[in-house]
Amino acid sequence: MIAEMADTLNFDTLVKEIEDLVKEKNCGPILIRLSWHDAGVFSSGALSGGCPNAAMRFTDAGEGTFGANAGLPTVALTLLKPVTEKYAETGFISHSDLWALSANVATKVMGGPDVPTRFGRPDAKDSSASVESQVGRLPDGDKGVVHLRDIFHPKGFDDKDIVALSGAHTVGKCHAERSGFEGAWTEDHLKFDNTYFTHLLSKKYEAETTAKGNPQLRCPVSGTMMLTTDMALLEDEAFKVHVERYAADQDAFFSDYVKAWVKLQENGCTDLREKL
Ligand code: HEM
Repeated sequence: MIAEMADTLNFDTLVKEIEDLVKEKNCGPILIRLSWHDAGVFSSGALSGGCPNAAMRFTDAGEGTFGANAGLPTVALTLLKPVTEKYAETGFISHSDLWALSANVATKVMGGPDVPTRFGRPDAKDSSASVESQVGRLPDGDKGVVHLRDIFHPKGFDDKDIVALSGAHTVGKCHAERSGFEGAWTEDHLKFDNTYFTHLLSKKYEAETTAKGNPQLRCPVSGTMMLTTDMALLEDEAFKVHVERYAADQDAFFSDYVKAWVKLQENGCTDLREKL
């Protein structure tokens, strides 16, 4: 039965089903975050390993239980379930490749750049293939400049990459029940453009504490928010030059974002193929 079904599946229908899901459920941002946290645990510094492998789908231990991933194994994977059952559980595509492809299709649907997806990420067989902890691998939103470099440099990203990747916050929201932070970075949280950078430069933000006790910043006029890590991009000249460049030139943002994002999605992977 599964083998028969696999014969009828093809790449174009897979992409179309992801596009339809993103439009129908407005779930583009969380699909980007799913791929980012699958791949983002990678490090080649003192901590090593952590290539994208969809370990988050196991919730008995490991990545599926990390506080930083709250909402991903539950909300994101529930949304993706119909596509997962049809395409990943039949062996047509690996779970990790599906997460990478879904993020890239979502980016495009929301008006962002075309992102090429390569294939061949391996899937964890159980939670033991998870990295040991989120500490030192995934960033905390209440920290600053030093923390951003401590997290991203060992993954092979420079200051420009850190700024470009942070621009993904032009879409999506913080949810009190997931991260303890609250609100959206931009007024249209489903549009992938350079508004995150124009907001950083043009809006006045005031410090506040969320109901969950987390420190963040909010613009009282627009109601949009920023994390401490977002504001850190203005504090350091080596970051700020890129904020200014991306605010003035969306094409420059898209071009640098695609390079850094593809590197992130492929970090630690070997022998990836152009075609599924
Ligand atoms: C630079 C350090 C970063 C920090 C501290 C950070 C932190 C956070 C936090 C706290 C949330 C809210 C989660 C929730 O409550 O649902 C969030 C959401 C999000 N992040 Fe980041 N993030 C960072 C970098 C990135 C990167 C590199 C990407 C992708 C390239 C990304 C993409 C997203 C997206 C799309 C959302 C919205 C998710 C949704 O709407 O459900 N973030 N981030």
